[in-house]
Amino acid sequence: MKSAEVRQEFLNFFEAKAHTILPSAPMVIKDDPTLMFTNAGMNQFKPYFLGNQNSKNNRIANTQKCLRVSGKHNDLEEVGIDTYHHTFFEMLGNWSFGDYFKKEAIEWAWELLTEVYKINPDKIYVTIFEGDPAEKLEKDTEASDFWKSLIPRERVLLGNKKDNFWEMGDQGPCGPCSEIHIDLRSEEEKAKISGADLVNQDHPQVIEVWNLVFIEFNRKANGSLESLPQKHVDTGMGFERLCMVLQGKTSNYDTDVFTPLIKEIE
Ligand code: SER
Repeated sequence: MKSAEVRQEFLNFFEAKAHTILPSAPMVIKDDPTLMFTNAGMNQFKPYFLGNQNSKNNRIANTQKCLRVSGKHNDLEEVGIDTYHHTFFEMLGNWSFGDYFKKEAIEWAWELLTEVYKINPDKIYVTIFEGDPAEKLEKDTEASDFWKSLIPRERVLLGNKKDNFWEMGDQGPCGPCSEIHIDLRSEEEKAKISGADLVNQDHPQVIEVWNLVFIEFNRKANGSLESLPQKHVDTGMGFERLCMVLQGKTSNYDTDVFTPLIKEIE
C-alpha cells in the first residue's frame, strides 16, 4: 500500500462514519500564547473542547502537519535517538465534540487497524490510564472494559500519567488516554520476551502508533483541573509510523525494515 493510500483509507473510513474531513491547520499558531507551533491535530479545535465556540460539525477527521518542538509533548530530545520520533510529522486524527466517546473511539480504532489495514491483532497491545491519586484521577476502567471486549485482557496494560494522560500544554484541554502499540518483532524475538514487557520501553520495534484521548478536563493556569461541560474525543495516529508498520506487513519482513536503522544507532 502506498503512503497516499494509507492516508486516504483513514479519511475514507471516518467519512463513512459521518465525519467531516477538514484540511490541516497552519503550523504557526495564532491567537494562543500557550503554544508556538501546532504540535497535535487537536490544537485548532481547542475552543470547541473548552466550550468557548461551537463546531459546525461534531465529528471531524483530518491529517495534520505537526511540529513537536514546543509544548508539553516535545520530542526534540528524542529525535535521532530512536527509530520512531520525528520533530515534523503528520498526524491522522478523528474528533468528537460532545458526540461519541470512548466506546466508538475504541471500536473504530480497532476496526480500522485490523479490518481495513489488516494489522494482525496478535501484534497489538493497548494501554489505559492507571489513575493518579495525587490529582484525584481514577483508573480508566471504562476504556479497559471496552478494550477487553475486543482483545485478550493480557494485552490491555496499565499506563501512568506521563504516558496515559494527555495535555495540550501547561494549560488547556486534557484527559486520560489509551494508546495502541504494535509489536513488529520476529516470532523468535517474541518467544524470548513478551511484547507486553516492551511497551513504552523505547524498543525500536514495539512502538506506539495511535493515541485515543478522552478529553474531559481543562488544566488551568494555577495547575488545577476543572471538568469540562462536555466530553470529547481527540485521537492522533502517527502517519509515518503507520506506514512503517504497513510496509513491514506487506513485505513480510518486519524486522528487515528496521535492521539497517538499528545497526546505524548501535
Ligand atoms: N492529542 C493527542 C496526541 O497528540 C491525540 O491526538 O497524541
